[in-house]
Amino acid sequence: MHTIYKLVIYSSISLLWVGSVQAQNWTISEEERAMKMTVEYTEAIQTEGKAIFEKSCKMCHGDLIVSPVNDRVLPIAPNLGATSIQSANSDGEFYGKISNGKGGMPPFKAALSPDDLWKVIAYLRTSYAAYVPQGAAAPSEAVAIFEGTIKSLTTTFDTAAKQFVVQLNAVDLAGNPTYAMNVKVDLLFKTSFGYLPVAKGVKSNSKGQVLIADPNIQPDSTGHIIVKAQTADLAVSEEKVIAYGSPWVWDSPLNHRSLWGTSANTPIWLLATYLSVVLGVWITIFWAILQLFRIWMLRER
Ligand code: HEC
Repeated sequence: MHTIYKLVIYSSISLLWVGSVQAQNWTISEEERAMKMTVEYTEAIQTEGKAIFEKSCKMCHGDLIVSPVNDRVLPIAPNLGATSIQSANSDGEFYGKISNGKGGMPPFKAALSPDDLWKVIAYLRTSYAAYVPQGAAAPSEAVAIFEGTIKSLTTTFDTAAKQFVVQLNAVDLAGNPTYAMNVKVDLLFKTSFGYLPVAKGVKSNSKGQVLIADPNIQPDSTGHIIVKAQTADLAVSEEKVIAYGSPWVWDSPLNHRSLWGTSANTPIWLLATYLSVVLGVWITIFWAILQLFRIWMLRER
């Protein structure tokens, strides 16, 4: 049989297979469909979701690109940034689809924890401008908006819990000290080329504290870093040097025993061989130049 016929037959079989797989329905339980986001819809969470997406989803789905409709062709997984997909799925439906999979889409129920699934969904939603945060992500009416005044911020690093704690020192409308809840705070690090944002818009809890996971950065040679905490409206800020991690030690290659390390570490025979080779090369070069010079001198006569 001609190769071309084989090709046609194989490709139609695979197209049929893809078609039949696509034709199945998603299995989403009623419970899943009704589920609401359990993580907050903040930049920090979306960034965590992005990391999971890049590790577990991107190889099939590609980048999240905002476009009206899915522009990827079969059998490649759809572009999840397509507005048609974003608007057709509720958060619960996304949760069910990603948990249970279908055809070419593997189930992630066992591989990712519920919170991780929600983090990915929070990231997927960043491509959908019309998204209205739901559940924990929603700005709930039950959660009061802080109305007093933030006096100052105090940043500490909790070594045991491996997190930064920014304590808001606030007073209520009557001027009494209180806990400022739901106030958005940014945390930045000072570097030689400016401030590096680590967390943006993280909300304070009922104790007036903002908890930010350790971003694992390198402290200076004395084991300190300069952090700057500020309220998202930039009204109050604090810059502070805090002890963090173990000091940074520059590991000079000269401290190691190596061929090109200090000559003190080099075995004498190696040094002698190396120097005689170098000397030999230079002697040869000078000899050649000398000969050329002598030829040039002969020209005069
Ligand atoms: C092995 C490739 C593969 C991986 C990995 C993968 N997907 Fe999919 N995904 C697919 C395919 C193929 C489809 C289309 C399935 C269909 O319609 O039959 C799909 C469909 C989907 C849909 C449904 C879109 C719609 O039309 O409603 C969502 C949501 C989704 N994937 C999310 C994810 C997320 C989140 C991850 C990572 C945690 C992921 N996928 C990882 C292949 C993959």
